[in-house]
Amino acid sequence: MKYQFMKNDNYEDFASGRVIYHKSGLPNFPVRLAGEIFQRALSYLEKDRINLYDPCCGNAYLLTVLGLLNYNKVKQIIASDIDIEALKMARINLSLLTEKGLLERKKQIENMLKKYGKPSHNEALKSIERFLKMIKTNKEEIDIRVFQSDILNKTTLEPKKFNVDMVITDVPYGNLVTWSDDDSSIMTLLEHIKVKLNKNAVVAVITNKKEKMNHRLYKRIEKFKIGKRYVYIFSYLNKGEHNDK
Ligand SMILES: C[S@@+](CC[C@H](N)C(=O)[O-])C[C@H]1O[C@@H](n2cnc3c(N)ncnc32)[C@H](O)[C@@H]1O
Repeated sequence: MKYQFMKNDNYEDFASGRVIYHKSGLPNFPVRLAGEIFQRALSYLEKDRINLYDPCCGNAYLLTVLGLLNYNKVKQIIASDIDIEALKMARINLSLLTEKGLLERKKQIENMLKKYGKPSHNEALKSIERFLKMIKTNKEEIDIRVFQSDILNKTTLEPKKFNVDMVITDVPYGNLVTWSDDDSSIMTLLEHIKVKLNKNAVVAVITNKKEKMNHRLYKRIEKFKIGKRYVYIFSYLNKGEHNDK
């Protein structure tokens, strides 16, 4: 896979545990790859600012990175997961997309710097200043919604009031995280999120399994492998375009 959008830059500002909180037990996602998937997905949409959803958000490290990297392109972030504990961290991480959240994190790191005097705390403070500068250039803060949902259960999304243009999700893949149900299926996820998708929405699924991935409501527009990860990008089909064979 060749990167088309994200340069081979230094993405240390976004490193897990620096400003964005790290909690052991969940895998971290490479920042450059996250940004590349977002940009590729965005290139299929005709919108300047989009609503972004991750139905397996975990600690929302991926969503927080995407929000910080693409602050002026994201209007709303919706995050859900089955795991209540992960959602606590998701809320804290996503608060870093607001000035208030960043200032609270700044205070916390300043206190740690006083106490421990580690150079890494100084670096984290510099990263926070860069994030603050960036989010101040935007007129509107990103709207954030976090809720619990089992994405393998058909009924949990329907009552929620939101619609999205883009879904990016790093699904459970054994070792550190497994599906909470034996009926583990990305197809089930694709089926259940459809009620929240806007016309022509784009869905990116990251997994460590090579799968067939044919769903009648979606057209697969990209597929690539990088390291142990497979990335599939789908376009949600309009009525009349479904692959009913
Ligand atoms: C690979 S982790 C996602 C990590 C996340 N991208 C992050 O940045 O923190 C997969 C997540 O799927 C969640 N999960 C497992 N089964 C689920 C289900 N049935 N519905 C929703 N989330 C589920 C797990 O709780 C875990 O947080």
